[in-house]
Amino acid sequence: MTAGPRVVLITGGAGFIGSRLARDLLARGDRVIVADYLHPQVHPGRGWPADLPREVELVPLDVTVEQTWGTLLRLHAPSVVVHLAAETGTGQSLTEASRHGMVNVVGTTRMLDAFSAQGYTPEHFILASSRAVYGEGEWTAAAGGGSCNPPPRRHEDLAAGRWDPVGAEGEALVHVPARAGRTVPNPSNIYAATKLTQELVLRAWCAAMNSRLSVLRLQNVYGPGQSPTNFYTGILTLFARLASAHSSLDVYEDGLILRDFVFVGDVVTALAAAIDRPPEQSRVLDVGSGAPTTILDAAARIARIAGAPEPVVSGRFRDGDVRAASCDIEPTMQELGWQPKVGLDDGLAQLVGWMREVGE
Ligand SMILES: NC(=O)c1ccc[n+]([C@@H]2O[C@H](COP(=O)([O-])OP(=O)(O)OC[C@H]3O[C@@H](n4cnc5c(N)ncnc54)[C@H](O)[C@@H]3O)[C@@H](O)[C@H]2O)c1
Repeated sequence: MTAGPRVVLITGGAGFIGSRLARDLLARGDRVIVADYLHPQVHPGRGWPADLPREVELVPLDVTVEQTWGTLLRLHAPSVVVHLAAETGTGQSLTEASRHGMVNVVGTTRMLDAFSAQGYTPEHFILASSRAVYGEGEWTAAAGGGSCNPPPRRHEDLAAGRWDPVGAEGEALVHVPARAGRTVPNPSNIYAATKLTQELVLRAWCAAMNSRLSVLRLQNVYGPGQSPTNFYTGILTLFARLASAHSSLDVYEDGLILRDFVFVGDVVTALAAAIDRPPEQSRVLDVGSGAPTTILDAAARIARIAGAPEPVVSGRFRDGDVRAASCDIEPTMQELGWQPKVGLDDGLAQLVGWMREVGE
């Protein structure tokens, strides 16, 4: 074991989750290197990101570019790598599939090739994967019986207002919270497919190279600091922005899309706990609040907090969106000795307060 502070490399560490994780790790005495190319969609100014602590070593690096990895790894030997750099636009990934494939998949393999070329293996990789890998996830017959994994919802069903997946005989189904190891991954959009590929690539490499791997499948993360100008991610950020301007919120489908919104501070504590408690070899954990809500309910809460009009259920929809996403966080709480602390009303009040502060 080397003396001195632990060296943690966070790819994509200038972003929403990464900058907050960097702050927490610095406070614990770690040395933090952030590798990020300041994606213009996330960082329109491209200056030093407002939420990124000045104490980190920020290395401008595009994960897809081989040479910059070589330069970074000749200077730094991180014992822990938190891999966050990614293209994150679910809807956008349908029409910009190659960009998502290049950054999320090839960016991950380039990183691993760079470690191989350097002859250096970090002790522990932590991947921020996504609840999106489950796709429509697991459902069970409302009248009782076995469970099933519905395929992606078809455009023609959505256009006809048939929102819920149905069973093989057309029977009504109810959503079952996802649980890693039991719920079969079943991506229904390209972003999700690239996140699952990241998991598989890292699992194979870490097993062969004798490194440890923690995959954290994050539900929908929200809170102060998510790029208010990136229109492709963060429904609650978009809602908070509109509600702060006293606009009414357009809620898709019948308003009953189900999501688990988890506060960014709780995600950061889960990532930090995963660093502190490495697995023997590899593990996959679900990270959420454990308290799912409908989009209509979340929109109504934001509208109330911001003093905006009641949300309007529009019946519009987006291809590739899943109907329900939630997870069972019990195994993660056990494994990491972690628990989410921020309830939805508290988190939304912080989000709306921040939105007013930044004046978006
Ligand atoms: N926010 C969520 O709700 C959520 C949910 C599930 C999973 N995740 C995952 O968590 C991770 C972080 O998400 P976030 O919400 O902080 O996103 P973010 O967009 O705020 O941060 C991502 C960072 O990656 C950087 N980046 C993008 N492409 C890059 C490239 N080619 N090279 C180097 N850096 C690059 C961006 O500049 C940005 O700073 C992502 O991997 C995402 O898939 C996020």
